[in-house]
Amino acid sequence: MCWRSVRYLEGMDARARIDQLREELRAHNHRYYVLAEPSISDKEFDVLLKELADLEAAHPEFDDQSSPTRRVGGDLTDKFEKVAHRSPMLSLSNSYNAEEVAQWAERVQAGLPDEAVEFALELKYDGVAIALWYEGGALVRALTRGDGATGEDVRTNVATIRSLPLKLNDGAPDPLEIRGEIFFPWPGFEALNESRREAGEPEFANPRNTAAGTLKLQDSSVVATRPLDCMIYNVDAETMRALGVTSHSEAVRKAAEWGFKTPQGRALDVVKSVDEIMAAVAHWERARHDLDFAIDGLVVKVNRYDQQRRLGMTAKSPRWAIAYKFETEQATTKLKSVEFQVGRTGAVTPVAYLEEVLLCGTKVKRASLHNADQIAKLGLREGDMVVVEKGGEIIPKIVGVDASSASAADLFSPSIDFPSTCPECDTGLVRKEGEAQHYCPNNATCPAQVRGRINHFISRKAMNVDGLGKETVTQLVEAGLIRDVADLYSLRAEELLPLERMAQKSVDNLLAGLQKSKSVPFERVLFGLGIRHVGETVAKHLARSLVRLEAFKTATVEELMALEEIGPIVAESVVDQFLDETFLAMLDRLVAAGLQTEAVIQEPVGNALEGEVVVVSGVFETMSRDEAKAAVTNHGGRLVGSISSKTTLVLAGENMGPSKLQKAEKLGIPLVDEKTFLARLGLSE
Ligand code: IVH
Repeated sequence: MCWRSVRYLEGMDARARIDQLREELRAHNHRYYVLAEPSISDKEFDVLLKELADLEAAHPEFDDQSSPTRRVGGDLTDKFEKVAHRSPMLSLSNSYNAEEVAQWAERVQAGLPDEAVEFALELKYDGVAIALWYEGGALVRALTRGDGATGEDVRTNVATIRSLPLKLNDGAPDPLEIRGEIFFPWPGFEALNESRREAGEPEFANPRNTAAGTLKLQDSSVVATRPLDCMIYNVDAETMRALGVTSHSEAVRKAAEWGFKTPQGRALDVVKSVDEIMAAVAHWERARHDLDFAIDGLVVKVNRYDQQRRLGMTAKSPRWAIAYKFETEQATTKLKSVEFQVGRTGAVTPVAYLEEVLLCGTKVKRASLHNADQIAKLGLREGDMVVVEKGGEIIPKIVGVDASSASAADLFSPSIDFPSTCPECDTGLVRKEGEAQHYCPNNATCPAQVRGRINHFISRKAMNVDGLGKETVTQLVEAGLIRDVADLYSLRAEELLPLERMAQKSVDNLLAGLQKSKSVPFERVLFGLGIRHVGETVAKHLARSLVRLEAFKTATVEELMALEEIGPIVAESVVDQFLDETFLAMLDRLVAAGLQTEAVIQEPVGNALEGEVVVVSGVFETMSRDEAKAAVTNHGGRLVGSISSKTTLVLAGENMGPSKLQKAEKLGIPLVDEKTFLARLGLSE
């Protein structure tokens, strides 16, 4: 494949290419490490880095101490205390096929002539490296990789990770430095994105960047709401030798004894040949999709410490270990057009429409382009052959342009430019300082925002208005019959009947649906109002704590922050919203229409499920799924949406999906059927 950057190569001498590559790689390093916003895949980065290393080797006269080939990571941001690492945090050299693994194994064997070599195999967790410092058994420091020599102390944030011991078990060495990977497991990541979608905030692209971004948050109470995880994969060899431990696999077992979460029993395997390594690769290439966290490959390590020491390191990585990276799934297809969509908060998102292509087994027609910078950087034109990638991401993204393709767009096809005005209302777009996203500032009357707010209000998880769909909302807004959600409740049959496709029956259904929505509980009304950062769960907490709508008008940021699960961002957003005169006037009209403005507080009826984290799945004979869920919370249990290692019980009805069943079995989580469940709650006859 020929990337656009390769176009520059023609007619260029080695010096110029070296300079260009150094510049490009520095910029990518910065985006990756400092901004946590990479714009190319790891593999592309490796290809560029290798090209530079080869050119530098062929031209020692252009040597430069600060070349990206000479260092491990990137620059630092300046929010957290910077601390030097005790030993550099190296990275691993990568391999992508059996041949490269075999070549590495040969080099290892050449360095250890006539010795038997064992390899420890591990999953390569797709997260952020962390160096943990324990003194007197207590976690005192948690350093990010930073530039490899100096990291940032993010202990306050790391301390929120439940799987990480803050105090070590007896027998652990003191002091102790231990390293691992912090990552964001899929269930929590998907739940976070769902709540962001509901709250009208842009979704996060992938768990790795989100984990990196989360560790750098200034507010650790926000970090605590994000279920990060940490897996230990490296214990300082000197410390271990002093304990008489002679191999990596033994050290990992020890770390587990001290209280750490380790790969033990999951993927750590000790093998003796390249064939066995490749068999594990083949297995995990498929099995990775069943894990509840992202991996991007396997790591192969020479197991014995004495052998590791004799092999030593290069400036960048140890010779005794290598990463095997899975192919990120990519496909090339034609870019048909780009549409700029305006969300209910005014955020403008470019969406690429593609000729349908198969990626990771699913048909892809749309891809995200993130923001204006990315479009400009790729220099996109309609008709371009673009490379779409679905790595850890849920939504595929465009990562490059395949300029070599015969059907690539020529220079006369229209280039894609980010609009300067709102595609819906023509208001000039604004870009907030430090943000990549453009916004339409015309919140009050931009039709896209008006429609977006109303569609959110009537959606299933909010007011769930039967008989009213997106198309009708568009029709009503265009006809000038509704401008905000309160207008819905003054709609009259005689205004609706003249509209196209509005027969008497549809009008009756619509008005009945609106009437019925007046009994929807207050927490869902609150969610439906679309206050920024107030998703379904936050709305529930707020409604249960403040009880009455009136109380929101006088609540202060401090009062709100004192509530369970409410941080400063939510608190400020709520207070701002309830100071807005237009919003308050609209609320008055909703109250007058008779919507619920007070929460019905239900006391738990029992505590039979106290401490249980429960997933409800399938259908039941004597109750609906919602009733089953209500029974869980009414008896002290905590509901979660998907099965993870934290789940303690699965209430399994009929037709529970096979993948859920398998997952529960794999994690050893007990399945409880309807009858047993009701008996446990004392509800069976
Ligand atoms: S061993 C001397 N083991 O991958 C380097 N690294 O690309 C020791 N990673 O910096 C690293 N899973 O952040 C090792 N099982 C594993 C890993 C792992 C993920 C990360 C780590 C490392 C990067 C290298």
